[in-house]
Amino acid sequence: MNSKILTVIIAVIVAVIWSCDSNTFEDISTGTVITDTISYEGQVKTIIETRCTGCHSPSGRASSVPLNNYQQVTRSIDRIIDLIQRPAGDPFRMPPNGMPNTEINTIIDWKNKGLTEK
Ligand code: HEC
Repeated sequence: MNSKILTVIIAVIVAVIWSCDSNTFEDISTGTVITDTISYEGQVKTIIETRCTGCHSPSGRASSVPLNNYQQVTRSIDRIIDLIQRPAGDPFRMPPNGMPNTEINTIIDWKNKGLTEK
């Protein structure tokens, strides 16, 4: 076989193996969690209970907007996604003292993937 062609083939194989390796390494090293299912019961409920229901419950300060179950959360989801992205200092920011971006993104992702309940 022509040695130039052979060299090109080997280079391509090395490049492919190299790119696979480095992608795998990056996925692990950046701590990216690859989950294809996101649901209210799985992730969202815990976030809302940690960040919101202290006020958004029948006995809390924001009892007019309870967020204690799937129906109550999905009913207001567009407003929720608006308010949780407000910057510090915005009077409507929810929760008023903010929450981590990872949790904000989880809720946005949940909406985009169809608001699965379980
Ligand atoms: C420290 C208390 C507190 C926390 C924590 C809190 N809220 Fe609120 N929230 C309020 C108060 C007070 C109001 C105003 C309620 C009213 O108008 O009766 C409000 C209003 C809202 C409203 C309705 C606002 C509107 O104008 O439509 C939504 C939606 C909301 N909050 C979502 C959330 C979400 C989602 C979280 C958690 C990520 C959260 N809140 C955390 C106190 C809180």
